[in-house]
Amino acid sequence: MGRVSGKVALITGGASGIGLATAKLLAKEDAKVVIGDFNLEGAEQAVKEIKEAGGEAAAIFLDAGKAESIEEAVEFTVSTYSKIDILYNNVGLTNLQKDLDVVNMDLDEWDRLMNVNLKSVLLGSRYAIPHMQKTGGGSIINTTSMAGFASDAIRSAYGASKAGVVSLTGYIATQYGKDRIRCNAVAPGLILTPAAEKNLPPQVLEIFKKYNALPYNGEPDDIAYTVLFLASDESKYITGQTIKVEGGHYIANPSIADFQSFMSQARSNTKE
Ligand SMILES: NC(=O)c1ccc[n+]([C@@H]2O[C@H](COP(=O)([O-])OP(=O)(O)OC[C@H]3O[C@@H](n4cnc5c(N)ncnc54)[C@H](O)[C@@H]3O)[C@@H](O)[C@H]2O)c1
Repeated sequence: MGRVSGKVALITGGASGIGLATAKLLAKEDAKVVIGDFNLEGAEQAVKEIKEAGGEAAAIFLDAGKAESIEEAVEFTVSTYSKIDILYNNVGLTNLQKDLDVVNMDLDEWDRLMNVNLKSVLLGSRYAIPHMQKTGGGSIINTTSMAGFASDAIRSAYGASKAGVVSLTGYIATQYGKDRIRCNAVAPGLILTPAAEKNLPPQVLEIFKKYNALPYNGEPDDIAYTVLFLASDESKYITGQTIKVEGGHYIANPSIADFQSFMSQARSNTKE
């Protein structure tokens, strides 16, 4: 029996990267999975692969920027598999050309990112919660980002929207805990998904690796396993939390790399 056997999950942005890895893992652990994505072809391909591997899944077109589309995805999940136990609000994006520093950023882009990254979490939860209340509970999981905790030179809207997701996670957990609805978030650091590899040159990926406590960058499965834990009853006493999955990138004093290089230079000077 799988770790989420008998449960039904809706995953937004499940055609690629973190959402895709999570859809496959939840299906492998015996959940019935609905993949909602802008990229319907990709979602259908994922469903095909899940079914070939012996799992159960269905796809639906989803525009996470539109309330009616999110509602439709929730209703599709309930009409296809008769309930919704797990909602994974995973869609999120940025645009490195427009989401800049506060003075220079495109204000329409600010509105778009708040809508797609933050409001979609509110809406998905708003439509799923009444169904979860009827069946005695559920688990809502949101993808935030370490950009919601640590500020950057650009990506002001992305960071602020993801900080909002951390906050909203606590509000949902507080408001619906007595209905046995849990709500938690996962905050990835850099994860090697198609989005990250398209946006960042290899040199930047190396910089991230250098500053991790661990000697490698993260992969979609690292997030998928965290979501699986939060989706399963193994985490039944955990709610309102954000789990940081970031290879120890943000745990140390930020000057540690320069300090280590200074110490190693000082040691070699002493030997000479
Ligand atoms: N990859 C990273 O390094 C990283 C780090 C921190 C947080 N995150 C977050 O993880 C989540 C997934 O990111 P990823 O790297 O797997 O991205 P990805 O681009 O590989 O996958 C995102 C999926 O969402 C879909 N999508 C995009 N906009 C949509 C919309 N408006 N409606 C419906 N579907 C839409 C895309 O078609 C795609 O299938 C995002 O919330 C992102 O902010 C990623």
